[in-house]
This record gives sequence, structure tokens and C-alpha cells, in this order.
Amino acid sequence: MKSDFSSLKELHEYYAINNSCKLRTIATQPVYEIVPPSSGIVFIGEAPGRNEDLQGKPFVGSAGKFLNELLDTIGYTREDVYVSNTVKYRPPENREPTDEEKDSCRVWLNAELLFIKPKVIVTLGRHALVRFVPKANVTTAHGTPFEHPSNIPIFPMYHPAAALYNPNLRVTLKEDIKKLKDFLDNGGKLQENKFQDDSNFSKKAKEDIKDILEM
Ligand code: URA
Repeated sequence: MKSDFSSLKELHEYYAINNSCKLRTIATQPVYEIVPPSSGIVFIGEAPGRNEDLQGKPFVGSAGKFLNELLDTIGYTREDVYVSNTVKYRPPENREPTDEEKDSCRVWLNAELLFIKPKVIVTLGRHALVRFVPKANVTTAHGTPFEHPSNIPIFPMYHPAAALYNPNLRVTLKEDIKKLKDFLDNGGKLQENKFQDDSNFSKKAKEDIKDILEM
């Protein structure tokens, strides 16, 4: 895997050409950010929607507005964090991305993470969560950091879009982002009882880690 990039822009331009995602032929453009986060926080969502597809930037629609609102509650702006997706192109009709689509963007996302070296990866929704912690369920895992063998903690949250019409989830997301802030303020390290047993990691997760560490 190519990894000697001098900027995120260069990295994205390389993978926008060198990827096999079938959505590429129907999407307007790939969706990504090009500035590494000063906070070290990387959010990973599911897949771009209509607004993202048109603008080429992640989370610029209504879910993005709510994400900005959440960040504001802990004193951050979008410029302080980095946002990505499991899939770089919009699936038609906003359907969920397929395994094949996620797999074809896997190396691209790994390369981004390797370049950025995040302090924490915040997964937004199920697709991003199982990408890193395959057996986890967002309903039980949200708001709790998980160990990952790359040594980057994974902090699961619900997807902001799920909360748009659900006041209870809005409250949960606000609580969870506060927990994220507390976690980072306390050094961003996991307590021993939060460590995930290595045997819980699937073969695929181990391959990801190998990718992240050895690319
Ligand atoms: N939802 C996502 O998962 N990603 C985006 O970029 C926008 C909405």
C-alpha cells in the first residue's frame, strides 16, 4: 500500500484514482477533508448523502449541523476535528453501504488514519463501529471507549442522523460527547477494565490493524 504522502490532499487524490469502489461511477465526486485535526479527534460516519456528494465535503447536511452543535457543547468547532466516512462516495437513494463498497474504501480509510495518527477515533453509528470493533453493538457500546490493537482508542457514538427526529437520542449524543471530552481531558487512556479481550477481535479486524501498523 502506498503511504509516502506529503499531505492529506495528495493522499485523497491518489486514492480517488486508485480505488475499486463501484459507487465511483454514479457519485458526483469523492467526499473527504484535507486538513489534519489539531485536536487529534477523528469522527467516522457511514457514507456521504446528497449534500456531501454535491459539495465533496463530509457532514455538511442536517446530520452535519447537529454534529457541529454537539462539538459546540464541548468547546470545539469543525475546524478542530477531522471527519471521514467508511465509504467515500454517496450510495444511491442514501441506502446503506454494502460490505463490498466498504471493503473497496477500506485501504483508503486506513491510509488516512495512518497519516493522521488520531488520538481517538469516534465512530458514528453501526457501520463505522463494527469496522473497528466487529462484535460491538452501538446500543450497548455508545459512550464507552474501546481498546484497539493499533493503540488508538475507539469511542462509539450513535449516528447524528439517527437523532434528528428522536429527542431521546439527541440527549444521549449530548451526554456521550461530554463523556468523550472527559475521556480526552483525563489523558485519553483506557482503564484496565475497559480493555477488550484480544480474542474478541475477528480476523478482519486484525488485518485492519496490520494494515494500519504496517502499511
Ligand atoms: N452521514 C454520514 O454518515 N456521512 C456524511 O458525510 C453525511 C451524513
